[in-house]
Amino acid sequence: MSEDKSPRHAAEPQAADVSEAQIAVHWPEEGYFSPPVQFIAQANLTDPGIFERFSLEHCPECFKEFADLLDWYKYWETTLDASNPPFWRWFVGGRLNACHNCVDRHLASHRNKTAIHFVPEPEDEAVQHLTYQELFVRVNELAALLRETFGLAVGDRVTLHMPMVPELPITMLACARLGVIHSQVFSGFSGKACADRIVDSGSRLLITMDAYHRAGDLLDHKEKADIAVAEAASAGHQIDKVLVWQRYPGKYSSPTALVDGRDVLVNDLLAKYRGRRVEPVQMPAEAPLFLMYTSGTTGRPKGCQHSTGGYLAYVTWTSRYIQDIHPEDVYWCMADIGWITGHSYIVYGPLSLAASSVVYEGVPTYPDPGRPWRIAEKLGVNIFHTSPTAIRALRRSGPDEPTKYQYHFKHMTTVGEPIEPEVWKWYHKVVGKGEAVIVDTWWQTENGGFLCSTVPAIHKMKPGSTGPGIPGIHPVIFDDDGHELPSGSGKAGNICIRNPWPGVLQTVWKDPDRYVKNYYARYCKDPKSKDWRDWPYLAGDGAMQAADGYFRILGRIDDVINVAGHRLGTKEIESAALLVPDVTEAAVVPVADEIKGKVPDLYVSLKPGLSPSPKIASKISASVVSRIGAIARPRRVVIVPDMPKTRSGKIMRRVLAAISNHQDPGDVSTLANPEIVEKIKGLAEGE
Ligand code: PRX
Repeated sequence: MSEDKSPRHAAEPQAADVSEAQIAVHWPEEGYFSPPVQFIAQANLTDPGIFERFSLEHCPECFKEFADLLDWYKYWETTLDASNPPFWRWFVGGRLNACHNCVDRHLASHRNKTAIHFVPEPEDEAVQHLTYQELFVRVNELAALLRETFGLAVGDRVTLHMPMVPELPITMLACARLGVIHSQVFSGFSGKACADRIVDSGSRLLITMDAYHRAGDLLDHKEKADIAVAEAASAGHQIDKVLVWQRYPGKYSSPTALVDGRDVLVNDLLAKYRGRRVEPVQMPAEAPLFLMYTSGTTGRPKGCQHSTGGYLAYVTWTSRYIQDIHPEDVYWCMADIGWITGHSYIVYGPLSLAASSVVYEGVPTYPDPGRPWRIAEKLGVNIFHTSPTAIRALRRSGPDEPTKYQYHFKHMTTVGEPIEPEVWKWYHKVVGKGEAVIVDTWWQTENGGFLCSTVPAIHKMKPGSTGPGIPGIHPVIFDDDGHELPSGSGKAGNICIRNPWPGVLQTVWKDPDRYVKNYYARYCKDPKSKDWRDWPYLAGDGAMQAADGYFRILGRIDDVINVAGHRLGTKEIESAALLVPDVTEAAVVPVADEIKGKVPDLYVSLKPGLSPSPKIASKISASVVSRIGAIARPRRVVIVPDMPKTRSGKIMRRVLAAISNHQDPGDVSTLANPEIVEKIKGLAEGE
């Protein structure tokens, strides 16, 4: 497959006029690459008529095709109940169970097929191949335990703080079987971050694991549970029980003691439930399936509530037609199940399609950058899914490694951040050996599944751009004044989706006002309107659309930094810094990073009389790590005598961002303290 140098349709990208906390992506439009004919020959979706079937006029009824991929106990009556915008209800009247759809329904044809390949990080430890039958047995036994020993029932929330082990999907599916709402917190998050999510969700049960492998170490994970319980208690919320899985069943691998009367070892209790079966609960389509917390414009993470029917239909359809998953495929998404990508595209989507899904415990470059390609070779992975951050890291540390291994990908996905065309081309040529189709999928925690992407057998690929909206998704770009930019204008603005779709979040847990305000208020012309067409969904990303209809995502327009493909609220990081008593003001800005895309730089000013020292700086950095997790660790902490401020006293983060990124801060003469800019520059450069 060669690069297609045909005339470029798109206008040159414009510098985006975006918020002060954001730096746009600049690169010229690229030429097209065609999907390989071998891929097209076997693809699930090759009919371009799909776009007519899923045109705006056919919304929402067209989404029937999505729901029809699932097994329903009771078929639904109303495709979309939009009578109370923007609280959408999908497939109303229908009843189903997500666990049944991901496990039980495959037993007839795929009982002995691998559902999950678990690859431990230590390379000398055996890979575990869990068949659908084994998954069925383990999920049932755990569901029986959760129901009978802990009394869990429909609508209860349970927080999971689990690493990348098969027990995580098992636990999620056991919850889903009972209609219990799971809320998995990324294992790299701190005990405190876990506690915030426990308190918000009102969980009384925490499910965790004693330890897990990461970058060559067996990490003590149970200690985070103790911190989480203590922090929740200090916020007035009690955790009744902590269920601890063992990384090595029968052996406790954490140096942190179990707390008598509170902590229980799941494997011990399970003995009592051997062979037990639990009927899946027939849940209404609109019953919440899980919560997934994400950062937003205010400090507090938002609990995105995802539905059972709409969400599952959405991830199943997109896994089948955008990921091109067939039951015979071996599919590896290298994300963490603690993020939405893992929920949708490691667990629910692939398992709903009876695929074999790989769960890898560790870091991609451990013990060397050949690791992912060895895994792909050994397991026969043919669909691969990862983030630009991982691709950059693998390219830097082992640019020729993929050529040493005999694997063949038919399809590869990138997700989470913009990918530089140069990195895209390495992914295509070296990782994909020029044989794979690539989809650059744009979406968010709130969306359930992909929003924009090329349809792999229909569209050409264009490095650095995601595609048009997928079938049924109708994006539009508005300017700051609420005017629609003509399609294909090449101008930057705020990307929105015109129509509701089944995968979109139902609400923000316990905070419907925040849901309306965050996602719908900005471009809704008539808040009294009962017509969904008046309620565009605001994604919070800057974007532009080229003349060929492809979108280029420019990054967040709110106070969010996308680090390694994951959203961190600048306010969350700033609040963690402000917990150090020496600090008076804190400002976080995104800095371009070769591997992670963006990383946070933290500027702080200290209480009068205190002098800057490396000790204070590391105390501040440690506070951020302990409140949020290592992912939020600032690249550096710059202690400044004062912040650049407007006359009204607002910190000018734009100026700090320019300094951190070695850019021109522009005209600073209107600041209340313009002289500070040079001083800060000197300090930042001296770091
Ligand atoms: O800014 C966009 C960026 O990641 C944000 C969503 O982050 P999160 O909710 O953590 O979900 C990540 C996985 C879906 C978006 O608002 N983003 C996501 N995918 C892309 C992207 N930016 C550019 N290109 C993408 N393909």
